[in-house]
Amino acid sequence: MAFSLHPEPARLLTDRRALVTGGSSGIGEGTCYELAAHGAAVAVNYNGNAQSADRICADIERAGGRAVPVEMDVADEHSVHDGFTTAAEVLGGLDLLVNNAGIERPFKLVDMPLAEWRRVLDVNLTGAFLCSREAARIMCEDPSPATPRAILMMSSVHEVIPWERFSHYCASKGGMKLFAQTIARELAPHGIRVASVAPGAIATPINADVLADPAAKQKVVDEIPYGRWGEVSDIARAVAWLASEQADYVVGTTLFVDGGMTLYPNFA
Ligand code: BGC
Repeated sequence: MAFSLHPEPARLLTDRRALVTGGSSGIGEGTCYELAAHGAAVAVNYNGNAQSADRICADIERAGGRAVPVEMDVADEHSVHDGFTTAAEVLGGLDLLVNNAGIERPFKLVDMPLAEWRRVLDVNLTGAFLCSREAARIMCEDPSPATPRAILMMSSVHEVIPWERFSHYCASKGGMKLFAQTIARELAPHGIRVASVAPGAIATPINADVLADPAAKQKVVDEIPYGRWGEVSDIARAVAWLASEQADYVVGTTLFVDGGMTLYPNFA
């Protein structure tokens, strides 16, 4: 893809060193590109899809940015430890984590296999815990850092909106909300800001089934006052801002980027 860095005066993240989980596709991919465009060096985490992570890193490096692929299963404690150690070594430290990795597959409660419930909670919530813990340990090692530090969650409108057939996903995002707010209190005294971005319906591979069905696609638009699906860039730009010093006083907050979905348009 034709990727270029933002012009220097417009860059918000010069000298920052970031790790984006689930960085090889969807919102994670767009976030890697946007952080890099703002001057950050980016560890592009992937779990299996090495080809995509390599392509993203090559695009960024070709444009004069810095990016490195890091394989890691966010739900596996040892894998997370190794992945963060590698990323911090290669990037020369770490001052920004984006907990983006997430999965979903619909099941009614009565049909929900325990393995499916566990997998979604493991990746979406335990993954955010393991990665935040690892990042915080690395960040807290340096009591007087030269760069600002932040841990950001890729939450969802479903941290507040219940969603039938997605009780596991909603539980993971509802859990993420209070997890984020709690560690925001713990880490703020260390100068580490924790905050969340909550996307609405964004056109990414996670929604491929809905996007392929015109009626289902329109039904989602009907739930969005702004009248359109979100683009990956809508979210990636919000993440870059939230990570930057421009958002220096934003602590423990969720920024909804959802075209108004959380305004409950169908409630009259
Ligand atoms: C989910 C999408 C869904 C959106 C709005 C997101 O968290 O990943 O699949 O379209 O919420 O319901």
